[in-house]
Amino acid sequence: MPVSRGSSLRRSAAAVTCLALLGAGCASDTPQNTLNAQGPFSQTLNDLIRPVFVLAAVVFVFVEGLIVFAVLRFRRRSEDDRPEQIHGSTKFELAWTIIPALLLVLVGGLTVSKIFYLDRQFKDSMQVQVIGHQWWWEYNYKDAKGTTVVAAANELHIPVGRKVQLNLTSADVIHNYWPPKLAGKVYAIPGRTNHMTIQADKADFYYGECAEFCGLSHANMRLRVVAQPQADFDRWMQANSAFTPAATYPIVAAADQATASEEAKGATLFLQKGCSGCHAVNGVSRGAVGPNLTYFNSRATFAGAIFANDNDNLRSWLRDPPAEKPGSLMPKLNLSEAEITSLTAYLRTLGDPALRGAPVPAGLAAGPPQP
Ligand code: CUA
Repeated sequence: MPVSRGSSLRRSAAAVTCLALLGAGCASDTPQNTLNAQGPFSQTLNDLIRPVFVLAAVVFVFVEGLIVFAVLRFRRRSEDDRPEQIHGSTKFELAWTIIPALLLVLVGGLTVSKIFYLDRQFKDSMQVQVIGHQWWWEYNYKDAKGTTVVAAANELHIPVGRKVQLNLTSADVIHNYWPPKLAGKVYAIPGRTNHMTIQADKADFYYGECAEFCGLSHANMRLRVVAQPQADFDRWMQANSAFTPAATYPIVAAADQATASEEAKGATLFLQKGCSGCHAVNGVSRGAVGPNLTYFNSRATFAGAIFANDNDNLRSWLRDPPAEKPGSLMPKLNLSEAEITSLTAYLRTLGDPALRGAPVPAGLAAGPPQP
């Protein structure tokens, strides 16, 4: 019988899909590969995943093998062929109850011991408060009295080789914090605090993202962990906590527009266009809806860590945020190109790019694909 065109097409499509999946499995550039643990807490998870996977594979091969064996060995050979019936066999019933039960006890024992380890709160860990927002992450580094000394966003700076306890909560809906190479997922839930401990083995820029659907730009709620040598981290903390933006830019009156600096005009726009109502800049404004911008220029990325923090991306963002990031709570402010130039100049005075701690990954420079 000739093969129809439709079924040969379907077969080709299936083959191409399988090859693509196989090819993707061989990729070397996998920044969010959860099996490539880069710290002791993610390694703990891997130490669980691997034996359980091996066990599951053995069970799979054994059971599928039995099925294939039964199909071949006991297939009907004639019209009245009927294999021996074993329904109610005590021997078999006991075997297929006890063996799976023992396997489950083994897997359960392994799992429970790891769960308690991962849930521990270590006395010597550094503490950072993490607050999920639609669609960005707030990080508050506090002093011994609980006062926030550095309020960062989207990029979490941590010292290499040190336990860092993240105290997670949310300002709006449920989010889920997930830096795959450093830890598993932990929910950020409004009204309660969950804990996650991470530790990075080497200095690097670790990727992650929100892992709970939280609205239109859930996919754009990325996160970066910048793990630095202790001395670099201390420099970052020190410089950021000591940094006071030039709170001194005077309001530029309309008559002085021609002679004022771009930075001063930008600072004036920041106060007059409503930016300050949503964004805090220490010593200037207290807005708490969007990220604290005091150290904006110390960040390698912005807007949920989806854009490299360069002037082209910043200009596109200021022109029309919801077009860049669907659902963005930051509205389109209908700024003129001249106003965007001034605001960009002002934002560049907030923080020090030398503190970014890691080069921006190449793929980020262009931003996310546009719909
Ligand atoms: Cu936040 Cu998904």
